[in-house]
Amino acid sequence: MTLIESPSRFSIDFDVRYALARKIAQQAGERALQMFRHRAVLEVEHKGLQDFVSIADREVEGMIRTAVSEAFPDDAFLGEESAAGVSDTLSSERVVWVVDPIDGTSCFLNGLYAWCVSIGILVDGEPLIGVVFDPNSGELFHAAQGRGAFVGQTPLNASPACSVREGLLGVGFSHRLKPEAFMPFLGRLLGDGGMFIRNGSGALMLAYAAAGRLIGYYEPHINAWDCLAGIVLMREAGGMVNDFLANGGLLRGNPIIASGSALYPALTALIDAQARPVS
Ligand code: IPD
Ligand code: CA
Ligand code: CA
Repeated sequence: MTLIESPSRFSIDFDVRYALARKIAQQAGERALQMFRHRAVLEVEHKGLQDFVSIADREVEGMIRTAVSEAFPDDAFLGEESAAGVSDTLSSERVVWVVDPIDGTSCFLNGLYAWCVSIGILVDGEPLIGVVFDPNSGELFHAAQGRGAFVGQTPLNASPACSVREGLLGVGFSHRLKPEAFMPFLGRLLGDGGMFIRNGSGALMLAYAAAGRLIGYYEPHINAWDCLAGIVLMREAGGMVNDFLANGGLLRGNPIIASGSALYPALTALIDAQARPVS
C-alpha cells in the first residue's frame, strides 16, 4: 500500500482510493447501462438549452456518493447533479471526489453510445487519480499520478502529432457560451487543414486523446466533473493540459486544452489567435 506524502505532511491511502474509484466506476456504469436499455421509461427534466437530466443521472450519482462516503466518510464530493449546493470551501478540502455519473447525457437519452462514468480525485488541490468507464465498450481508462495511464492493462500514450493535419481533434461546445466563443476557432482549425469530432462526451474524448486516438481535445468552457479524470489521464499519457483549476475552475469551470506535447504549442496558438482571419 502506498502512502502519498502531501505538502502538509499528512498522508492519504492512495492505492485504496485508486482501486475504489475503478470499482465504483464499473459498478455505476453497469447500473447506468441497465437504465440505458430501458431509457424510454426514464423521467427526463430540462436543465437548460440542450441540457437534460434523467433519473438515471441522479440515481447513479447517488450510488457513487454512497459508496465513497461508506469507504471514506471524510472525503468531500463534487458531483454534477448535486453541485448546486456545494460551498466555496470545497476547494480547500484534503480529498475531493469529482464525479460525473453519466457524461454524455444527451447521447444516453437519445440511444447513442458515447457516454461514460467519470471519476477524478483531487488531493490537496491536485488532480491525482482519474477513471473513465465506458460500459458500452467495456473500456476502463484509468491513471494515477506517477503510475502512467491505462485502458485495462494496456499503457496509454498521447498522440505524437505535431500538426492538426495529422489526425482528428476532439472538440466540445455547450450553450453555456455564445457560439461566437467557438466558431472562429473551428474556422481556423479547418483553414489549417485540421478536422474535428464532437461525440457528446467530453470525458470520453479526453480519454481517447490520452489513448492517442484523437490528437487532442478543446472546449471553450467545461465543468470540473467533465474533465478532472481526463486531465490525469492526459498528463499520465505524456500529454499536456492547460491549468484548468486556475481562477476557481473547480466550481466555475474553465476552457480545457489537451493534446500530445508536440502539438500543444500549435493548438494553443490556434485557440488564442482570435484576431487571425480564417485562411
Ligand atoms: C456535457 C458533455 C459534452 C460537453 C459539455 C458537457 P453532460 O456533459 O461532456 O460533451 O461538451 O460541456 O456539459 O451534460 O453530457 O454530462
Ligand atoms: Ca458532463
Ligand atoms: Ca452528466
